[in-house]
Amino acid sequence: MSAEKYLVTGGAGYVGSVVATHLLEAGHRVTVLDDLSTGFREGVPEGAEFVEGRVQDAARWLDGSYDAVLHFAASSQVGESVVKPEKYWDNNVGGSMALLAAMRSAGVRRLVFSSTAATYGEPVSTPITETDPTAPTNPYGATKLAVDHMIASECAAHGLAAVSLRYFNVAGAYGAAGERHDPESHLIPLVLQVALGTRESISVYGDDYPTPDGTCVRDYIHVADLAEAHLAALAAAVPGEHLVCNLGNGNGFSVREVIDTVRKVTGHPIPEAAAERRAGDPAVLVASARTAHERLGWTPARADLAGIVEDAWNFTRRNA
Ligand SMILES: NC(=O)c1ccc[n+]([C@@H]2O[C@H](COP(=O)([O-])OP(=O)(O)OC[C@H]3O[C@@H](n4cnc5c(N)ncnc54)[C@H](O)[C@@H]3O)[C@@H](O)[C@H]2O)c1
Repeated sequence: MSAEKYLVTGGAGYVGSVVATHLLEAGHRVTVLDDLSTGFREGVPEGAEFVEGRVQDAARWLDGSYDAVLHFAASSQVGESVVKPEKYWDNNVGGSMALLAAMRSAGVRRLVFSSTAATYGEPVSTPITETDPTAPTNPYGATKLAVDHMIASECAAHGLAAVSLRYFNVAGAYGAAGERHDPESHLIPLVLQVALGTRESISVYGDDYPTPDGTCVRDYIHVADLAEAHLAALAAAVPGEHLVCNLGNGNGFSVREVIDTVRKVTGHPIPEAAAERRAGDPAVLVASARTAHERLGWTPARADLAGIVEDAWNFTRRNA
């Protein structure tokens, strides 16, 4: 693809900064729009233009010189969404609605959106395909699903070319960018905090699930593989179509396998603390990434859990 100009909302955050880095490495021009609510100024890759602002005000910056928008900006803490749902409807749905309006008036007609496995809720079968029922079990997933529907109608009515990428569990690090959520809720960085000595033990929420070792199974996808899918999605987007693709490895790892892998990679004993199951935590969440393979020509290249954990561990130590 020849060099293009992209607006990356949320490009100071974990996934957005890695994707922005990949876009720059591929020779594209990038403007990051981020309000730094959960992102970091130093996360914006060198070479990207940075605008500190809200997606709700995207119309101020977006003009016809942009070829496409990659929309990462969102509130994404599942637990917080249960106690403060209004924040999630406002930021995720309100922000996306304002962005679509800004894109319509600027004539920017291509979008890649960060959707999530949380749109499916409790899976009806494994691996999960894009045609499976969507029944989110928390407001975060519900707001992301609402945005997917909003984008589908924008494509049908106004010819937008859009791809929603439904990430499963993103992990690992790339270059200077890695995972730094506050509070952290993702398993790998939490276990690494124990290895680093900033957390005493790792809580294992339920060990009596119908899985081989009784703990929950999740699909971990390396953030660099995920970034490559975004470049492929930009190239594959078709006017008038809303394409939805799961992004995962198609391989599940249990909580206990993750903890064991962290033990091997870091040499730390990682004490565990048994805890009650969390409401709305499905036993197994594994993606079928067949659509991404067929439509985007995308196959994850970094499916090895130890490699993902090593990259995350190197990032964690560098930023301790
Ligand atoms: N990390 C995962 O495992 C995962 C899984 C599924 C989906 N997602 C989705 O991927 C996207 C990125 O996730 P992440 O893990 O990088 O989160 P993150 O919190 O690190 O990044 C989000 C970025 O968006 C910015 N932001 C939030 N609201 C904004 C607004 N209104 N205007 C401008 N900027 C705003 C934040 O400051 C932050 O830099 C999110 O949309 C999330 O829902 C992430």
